[in-house]
Amino acid sequence: MKNVVSGLKPSGKLHIGNYLGVIKKAIELQNSNKYNCIYFIADYHSLTVDFKPQEKKVEIFEMIIDLLASGINPKKSIFFIQSHLNEHTALGWIFNNLLSVNRLSGMIEYKEKINEGHIPNVGLLDYPVLMAADILIYNADFVPVGEDQLQHLELTRDIARIFNNRFGLFFKEPKPILTSIPRVMSLNNPNKKMSKTLPSGCLYISDPKEEIFKKIKSAVTDSESQIEYNPQNRPAISNLILIYSEFSNIPPEKIVQEFKNKGYFEFKNSLAELVYSKLKIIHDKRKELLKNKKEIMKLLQNGASKAQKIAQNNLLKIKSKIGLI
Ligand code: TRP
Repeated sequence: MKNVVSGLKPSGKLHIGNYLGVIKKAIELQNSNKYNCIYFIADYHSLTVDFKPQEKKVEIFEMIIDLLASGINPKKSIFFIQSHLNEHTALGWIFNNLLSVNRLSGMIEYKEKINEGHIPNVGLLDYPVLMAADILIYNADFVPVGEDQLQHLELTRDIARIFNNRFGLFFKEPKPILTSIPRVMSLNNPNKKMSKTLPSGCLYISDPKEEIFKKIKSAVTDSESQIEYNPQNRPAISNLILIYSEFSNIPPEKIVQEFKNKGYFEFKNSLAELVYSKLKIIHDKRKELLKNKKEIMKLLQNGASKAQKIAQNNLLKIKSKIGLI
């Protein structure tokens, strides 16, 4: 069986951009029973920008609950917390020696973060190397990611190639898997990605019914009145149609047909009903999960020990390949 690996950075509550952009796909792959799926909370990656320990704790836990409630099933996938293993960072150190600082300082995400005013610490620079280690330590074939991570995956393949050339064939070159909606835009700015930095345009998985309705009803559209799917010229309404499409599994063209001659008001109302009906299932699961915090931590420890067996074994082989004794 082929290996699927993905890491999810805990950045607070999950929003539907995260969900539709990566998680829905990760869950589909898991439920197809065709892959060995390895999913983890990338908590080390989340340390590269400033944080407070108390808030970090909450963010990590929220993320775990949201992922489990969304359908990550620890009976089907190996599910764990990255920092519970030392092997990823150890392999990251080995990979550090295969790349130049220039290569890393030219990465898009690094430059963006610095432009946003984050401190250019070594972690921020080295972020993609740890990500490559996360992926390659499990010999991944496929990596479900958001569109913004494609460059990191390209670097991962380069690292695999550089290693193989220098030390002999060992790593496969993993391929990204994108969802059909890798970029969900903000509900109130169709030119910006949905993100918690634009709160009123960001729909959280855990938002209660009133919030869902409020956010969808106040989503920006345009001055036209017809519902039309045209991402180029009418990005705002097209973003809403895509969200509708992903939650209903109805293609955009059919949705447009259904709402022909109906106004934005009616469309938004149906969209809010649809999103609520889907998220309600996740809300109910969340409530159940929150009663069993202890069990969840046990479950993650169990996941970590399964992952560690694979990671340890591969790391040993890698170390011996490069001459460590
Ligand atoms: N950098 C990824 C993101 O921001 C998170 C991540 C860390 C990841 N390690 C990974 C994704 C390994 C895929 C595979 O979304």
